[in-house]
Amino acid sequence: MTTTEKEIDYSQYPYVDKGLEGIVAFSSRKSLIDGAKGELYYAGYDIDSLARHSTFEEVCFLLWNERLPNKAELHELNEKLRSERDLPEVVLNYLKSVNKDSEPMAVLRTATSMLADEDPESADTSSEASLRKAIRLTAKLPAIIAGFDRSRNGKEILSPLKKNSIAFDFLYMLNGEEPGENAERTMDVLLITHAEHGMNASTFTCRSICATMSDIHSAVTGAIGSLKGPLHGGANTAVMNMLKELDKDTDIVAFIKGKLERKEKIMGFGHRVYKTYDPRAKFLRTMAKDLASEVDMEYLYEWSESIVKVMKEEKNIDPNVDFFSATVYYSMGIQPDLYTTIFSMARVSGWTAHYLEQLSKNRLIRPRVLYLGNENLEYVPIDER
Ligand code: CMC
Repeated sequence: MTTTEKEIDYSQYPYVDKGLEGIVAFSSRKSLIDGAKGELYYAGYDIDSLARHSTFEEVCFLLWNERLPNKAELHELNEKLRSERDLPEVVLNYLKSVNKDSEPMAVLRTATSMLADEDPESADTSSEASLRKAIRLTAKLPAIIAGFDRSRNGKEILSPLKKNSIAFDFLYMLNGEEPGENAERTMDVLLITHAEHGMNASTFTCRSICATMSDIHSAVTGAIGSLKGPLHGGANTAVMNMLKELDKDTDIVAFIKGKLERKEKIMGFGHRVYKTYDPRAKFLRTMAKDLASEVDMEYLYEWSESIVKVMKEEKNIDPNVDFFSATVYYSMGIQPDLYTTIFSMARVSGWTAHYLEQLSKNRLIRPRVLYLGNENLEYVPIDER
């Protein structure tokens, strides 16, 4: 006799929640999400002021140290991040030889794991060594993403210039030319807005791996695997794939209603925590509008606004960070299947910050499962089955 999900009396199990909704698994000083008000703070600073005034490097310092750096500290971190941007030979060879049709997130996952073999402190799980490795990972992920994209397009993989910001060198390594100030700043703001977000699925994965006392490369590799899914970071690529299905003659209301009737999820909408507009989406919405019009792609922004309107009317659901970021990336000329890798390049700061926090007060993460299967069956030898 097995039990079905419907037959379970969940009132007997106060701690059971499919999807762990509302369950508090950790305490953290890294970020605060107010889902009702639609507010997000990194270590006390609201996302809007960070996106307007800060840099990704400063946000990394903030997340790792839970305070803003002074000038000397920021200079020192910038120097370290610049000096660590090169990739080891073995990873460069992998990027050159890997199947050109591979998914960029799968390549990023494998290459990140390979970095561990080349890291002099790979097995050292002390917090000092883990912070140094966090800096190396944050510095190197952009080179992996750009290197794979160039290699799959038959272009030479470029070494980092090791100057200016991570955003600057990433765009240089990707496009083969130094970005202008606006492009660098746009990429920097994308990195800031994607850096950290409470106990999302990939951060939970990262902390669970850390909690076994495994190393930071394993935790970040696992987190990349988690972010890849379309219900999490993979949604930004899925948004652009959806927008590409449209043309000027599409009846967007009918298009979205049709998807909803078929019980399909509209990518870039909904959130487990926000019950109102995601503050990151609010910021990216303005960026999408401005950038799309700069490159004569206003239509992308207009279609997006029509989708937002239908989703509000039909489901009362607002867009999340992945909806307008897709238009921002597209307007910058970035290939849609790279969007989630860029999300990873930003979120590595949050993952590693949580890794360090978990290390500082670690306890193994080991929830229970409600067993629904058979019990006390008699083993039947294979010839008698
Ligand atoms: N399109 C259509 N209906 C939706 C959507 C959506 N995007 N999101 C939620 N709903 C409906 C859902 O069908 C359900 O309706 P009903 O009660 O009638 O069955 C109700 O809203 C509650 O949804 P849920 O799936 O129980 O919510 P959840 O908290 O389990 O899932 C989510 C959250 C983000 C996975 C979900 O909203 C979703 O699948 N969104 C699309 C994928 C997406 O954009 N993901 C990126 C999330 S934000 C960035 C990140 O963290 O990576």
